[in-house]
Amino acid sequence: MVKERKITVLDLQRLKEKGDKISMITAYDYPTAQVVDRAGIEIILVGDSLGNAVLGYENTVPVRVDDIIYHAKAVMRGVKRTLVVGDMPFMSFNVSPEQAMLNAGRIMKEGGTDVVKLEGGREVADVVSAIVNRCGIPVMGHIGLTPQRVSQLGGFKVQGKDLAKAKKAIDDAKILEEAGAFALVLECIPHQLAKLITEQVSIPTIGIGAGPCCDGQVLVFHDLVGWSAGFSPKFVKRYQDLNAIISEALLTYIDEVKSGSFPTLDEHSFTMNEEILDQLQ
Ligand code: KIV
Repeated sequence: MVKERKITVLDLQRLKEKGDKISMITAYDYPTAQVVDRAGIEIILVGDSLGNAVLGYENTVPVRVDDIIYHAKAVMRGVKRTLVVGDMPFMSFNVSPEQAMLNAGRIMKEGGTDVVKLEGGREVADVVSAIVNRCGIPVMGHIGLTPQRVSQLGGFKVQGKDLAKAKKAIDDAKILEEAGAFALVLECIPHQLAKLITEQVSIPTIGIGAGPCCDGQVLVFHDLVGWSAGFSPKFVKRYQDLNAIISEALLTYIDEVKSGSFPTLDEHSFTMNEEILDQLQ
């Protein structure tokens, strides 16, 4: 059943404890947020994936804190009950806990989001702890494939396939939990590793390309509805083909404008009083 009140981090924890799955999706604007909110999805992520999905960048690296705030404000206007996560962009939290606290505070105060998310494992534990414990801002962690490090990782590749990297992923998850993260995104790791992590932490895990055993799943909205162009990763399921639907609508519109069948007088036009018209002629 769809809850009417705002979903909180405690609700997500309860869902994990009950074994109920959590649904999460990205949104970057008001109409998308409204439709997602009404559908009953538990979490919206105003992700830095907005760089690729709506701003046309090649990756998430150019996205700024101001971009997240701008899109978060639009999303918040469309949401009544969904928990909204504001993503911390590349280099907005990596310099120091002080820098991270200021930017997390901006995303929450100016963007209006309920919580923030940031990428990284052990190396950002001090940052997570500062944001959670000193500021009282809940933090969602993000490990596995961390797109902000795409240059260092040598591309968008499955992570944690060898023993050392798999052990590091498990350690990272535990360290982030200890630092105070309320949930973890697990991106693009083998499903067996995701299952182990999910069993070994008490906070919810949200998978993307991490198999079915996570406590929840997240997808990019534009991938899910088939509104993104080009390459689609293996883990994406397209539930619709919005590209095709929109293209068809546009072609029909062009045809109707050219042929004069749109607009019609009866359906799409306004009339004026005949007496006034006579005086104009
Ligand atoms: O920005 C984003 O959309 C994300 C998801 C892929 C988890 O970080």
